[in-house]
Amino acid sequence: MDALEAIVTRRSIRTFLDRQVPAEVIWRILGAGLRAPSAGNRQPWRFIVVTDREKMRLFDPQYHQACVESAAAIIVVCTDPHDTWERYDEHADYHVLDAAAAIENMLLAIHALGLGAVWVGAFSPRATRKALNIPAHWRIVSLVPMGYYREEDNTDRAPRRRLEEIAFFNDAATPFTA
Ligand SMILES: Cc1cc2nc3c(=O)[nH]c(=O)nc-3n(C[C@H](O)[C@H](O)[C@H](O)COP(=O)(O)O)c2cc1C
Repeated sequence: MDALEAIVTRRSIRTFLDRQVPAEVIWRILGAGLRAPSAGNRQPWRFIVVTDREKMRLFDPQYHQACVESAAAIIVVCTDPHDTWERYDEHADYHVLDAAAAIENMLLAIHALGLGAVWVGAFSPRATRKALNIPAHWRIVSLVPMGYYREEDNTDRAPRRRLEEIAFFNDAATPFTA
């Protein structure tokens, strides 16, 4: 699968098979995260791999999302803000942008390797921090539950807006068209 095909065919997978993901596969996925661009190449991301279901169940006490509680593995994507790049005296949270780039890289790698995943923002940072002993100053950005899956258990296709609605040419009022 080439890069463009991976981008176009990736979608969120929320129902996983009860099948372990080999450590070397997770290693390759983390390696894809590490290849993401980061401001000043500071690489402030920290990836915590969780396969312990007891711990997973603690992450999302409000919504109990099935994708969080039944994943084969969850990559908990954090950053160390002490490592962030700063632009002058502006506080721009570049470390969070860096983490987002790493997450998308990992989602694409997961898809290219034949597994599925979903980017999860609805979870309790407080409960997750406690469950995983995450240092107080780290930012917990998102969860990436992942695993093997069956097509028929994951039929949702999220529609996209038309490009003409969101792409502009030379000014913000002229739609970009091919
Ligand atoms: C920052 C962020 C947070 C998200 N949080 C959740 C979440 O908590 N639960 C969930 O099921 N999906 C979550 N998603 C996935 C989106 O719902 C999904 O990417 C979107 O509907 C488009 O669908 P697709 O990924 O299949 O293309 C999140 C995505 C992003 C980028």
